[in-house]
Amino acid sequence: MPPKPAARPGKVSLWRYARLFRRDILSAQPARLYRAWMAEFRTPFFRSYLCNDPDLVDLVLRRRPADFPKSRRIREGLTPLLGNSVFITNGATWARQRRIIDPAFEGGRLRDTFPAMWDAGQAMVARLAPLADGRPVEIEAQTSHAAADVIFRTLFSIPIEHELAADVFSAFRAHQKAQPLLNIGALLPLPGWVPRLHSRRTRATARTIRAAITRLTVDRAAALDAGIAPDDLATKIMTTPDPETGQTFDTDEMVDQVAIFFLAGHETSASALAWALYLLALYPDWQDRLANEASAAFEPDKIYFSALSKLPQARAVFRETMRLYPPVPMFVREAACPERFRDRAVPPGAQIIISPWHLHRHARLWERPDDFDPDRFATENGKACLRDAYIPFSAGARVCPGAGFAMAEGPLLLAMMARAFRIERVAGAEPVPQAQLTVRARDGIHLRLSPR
Ligand code: HEM
Repeated sequence: MPPKPAARPGKVSLWRYARLFRRDILSAQPARLYRAWMAEFRTPFFRSYLCNDPDLVDLVLRRRPADFPKSRRIREGLTPLLGNSVFITNGATWARQRRIIDPAFEGGRLRDTFPAMWDAGQAMVARLAPLADGRPVEIEAQTSHAAADVIFRTLFSIPIEHELAADVFSAFRAHQKAQPLLNIGALLPLPGWVPRLHSRRTRATARTIRAAITRLTVDRAAALDAGIAPDDLATKIMTTPDPETGQTFDTDEMVDQVAIFFLAGHETSASALAWALYLLALYPDWQDRLANEASAAFEPDKIYFSALSKLPQARAVFRETMRLYPPVPMFVREAACPERFRDRAVPPGAQIIISPWHLHRHARLWERPDDFDPDRFATENGKACLRDAYIPFSAGARVCPGAGFAMAEGPLLLAMMARAFRIERVAGAEPVPQAQLTVRARDGIHLRLSPR
């Protein structure tokens, strides 16, 4: 069975919960959350409601998103790095930012972005070839490298070997250790007025990252002025005016957006790809299916956009991977006004927790919720759950703008890896899922590769 973290045994005190939580959000939760429609957490200073009822999830994300803005508590943790980025803004600012960003990620643009994804995939296979001699390889570091490469190539037309790209990448790694994305401040029982101190290290790494991204952005603005900018995502976003005001992003606001594209775009894809490769090692029959599918779909050294539509099994594996290991395991909103959820009063300011982790494994919604079965999406239950209980990219107005991008990148890289290598587990090194910035393995994911 695919690994699942042990649930917390029984009831614990608030402070014990806080301590468990600090260590790992997933194993701090009780097992009943896999069956509950809603759970209320009362703390001395605020209340949280974890919603698994698909109707409540639909209400919060799709039907009335403006009444459930991004939580202030989450914003505080991320501000040093992300400034005023679309990931943390609300209201009119957020809406204007999405009007400028969304066109860059429209389905039609995928054809233009695809060659850069392909090149990053080939670079990944080439980097791993010398390691494919049966020795254990820590694969999360490799997928992080590859996903960061995809982002730099698609945004700025530079591979990760470029000096600036490498600087940003290594600074992000340091930053993540100091500041997790799912800020514990959102759920810990501290009153809202306690200032969230950012460690000196968090502020320093945030400054380094922003300085490097500012250089990339300023250079690109100059290239645009000179008429020599490549046609990539950065160019598209920097030249798209808001259809309502006619204004484009200024440099500062663009730096904020690039920071979130990089963070949200590479950590997530890297997490999903690493778990997908592990699952292929756990299920060799699926690995063979993907290798055969990939061999029929493309030649390794030629680019075809049409190859993407010939990888339905790689897509199914990637989708099932994100069901079991949703890269963003939980996200948090705040009730702006008084609400009633399942006959309980929800006060304004309450934290509303949407947990793909629990929803995707909900025992009353999914058949065999903890099994790995990419074919499930062709069944009645799988189709219904895909509609009502599957939200790795969130849903509604604030749905991930990179969802289409990620659903091209993930299956493509997975197919390229399955075509090139045979992938095996390392005995005694089974990964333990843990919510870090995204869902990662506590001690990494170790696999053996050999040429296919
Ligand atoms: C497997 C890959 C990915 C997963 C699972 C994923 C998941 C998510 C989720 C769950 C959210 C909503 C978070 C919340 O509401 O708190 C989100 C938002 C976002 N994602 Fe992704 N994402 C992925 C890839 C990407 C990529 C490739 C990009 C861009 C290049 C991207 C850019 C963003 C941005 C800008 C937002 C904020 C949107 C808003 O608040 O309006 N993501 N993503």
